[in-house]
Amino acid sequence: MDVSGRTILISGGSSGLGAACVRRLVGHGANVVIADLSEAGKTLADSLGSQAAFAPTDVTSEADVRRAVALAEQQFGGLHGAITCAGILQAERAVGRNGAASLEAFQRVININLVGTFNVVRLAAEAIAKQPPGLDGERGVIVMTSSVAAEEGQIGQAAYSASKGGVASMTLPLARDLARSGIRVVSIAPGVFETPMVQAAPEAVRKSLAEQIPFPARLGHPDEFAALVEHAFENRMLNGTVVRIDGAMRMGPR
Ligand SMILES: NC(=O)c1ccc[n+]([C@@H]2O[C@H](COP(=O)([O-])OP(=O)(O)OC[C@H]3O[C@@H](n4cnc5c(N)ncnc54)[C@H](O)[C@@H]3O)[C@@H](O)[C@H]2O)c1
Repeated sequence: MDVSGRTILISGGSSGLGAACVRRLVGHGANVVIADLSEAGKTLADSLGSQAAFAPTDVTSEADVRRAVALAEQQFGGLHGAITCAGILQAERAVGRNGAASLEAFQRVININLVGTFNVVRLAAEAIAKQPPGLDGERGVIVMTSSVAAEEGQIGQAAYSASKGGVASMTLPLARDLARSGIRVVSIAPGVFETPMVQAAPEAVRKSLAEQIPFPARLGHPDEFAALVEHAFENRMLNGTVVRIDGAMRMGPR
C-alpha cells in the first residue's frame, strides 16, 4: 500500500529508527501517531504539523496502547499500519564477576522488546481490520523491528537476542493469523545503525562493530532503515518474513 494518505502508528517514534520512519512517512504524505515514553516525540510531532500526533505510551501497557490507537482513529479517521520500534538494549553476562545475571533485568528486556511489540501488534491489528479492503483485499501492514542479534547475539546479549529472536519467530504466525484480515506482517533485522541507542555504547564497542561491516564499511543511516520500512508497505508480496539490512555484517562474539 502507498503510505500517502494512510495513518500509521509508530512505537518508539521519538528517537532513532522510529523517528526516521516518522519523518520519511510524513514526508511521503502519511499521518503518523508517535507512541513513545519519551516526550521528545511531542516536540517531533509539533515540528511536523497536522500530519503527526504524539501519544505518551508505554508499549507494555494495554491502556496506553489502546489510547494511542484511539488517537489515530479520532484524529485521522482510522489506522492502516503500525511500525514497532520501541525497544531497549541491555548487556549482561549470564554469570559475571558478581555472580548470576539479574533475572529482573532479563524479564524487563523481554517485556519491553517482545511483549510490548506483541501488545502493539494485536491492538493495532484489531483497528486495522476495520478498514475496507483495498487491492488484493489488503487492509494494512505491520512492520516489526527485530535485530541481527536474533541470529548472532554477542557476549552479554542473551536477553536482547531472546527478545529479538521472539520478534523474528512470531513474524510468520502473526502473518498467518492476520491474513484473513488482509494485514501483512514483516520484520526487519537491522545490523548497526547510527542512533542514540548505539551512540550510548562505548567508543571501543562502536568501533569494533563498524569494523565488522564488510560493505559499506560504516554504520547504517536511520533513513536507510525507514526506506526499507516504506518498501514493506508498498510491496504486497512481502509477508511473513524477516529481512536483514546490515551491509553483510555477521556479528562476532564481541
Ligand atoms: N540502532 C541499531 O543499530 C539497532 C539494531 C538492531 C535493532 N535495533 C532496534 O531498533 C529499535 C529502535 O532502536 P533505536 O536504535 O532507534 O533506539 P533509540 O533508543 O534511539 O529509540 C528507542 C525508542 O524506544 C522508546 N522506548 C523504550 N522503551 C519504551 C517503552 N516501554 N514504551 C514506549 N517506548 C519505549 C524510547 O523512548 C526511544 O524513543 C529497537 O527495538 C532496537 O532494539 C536497533
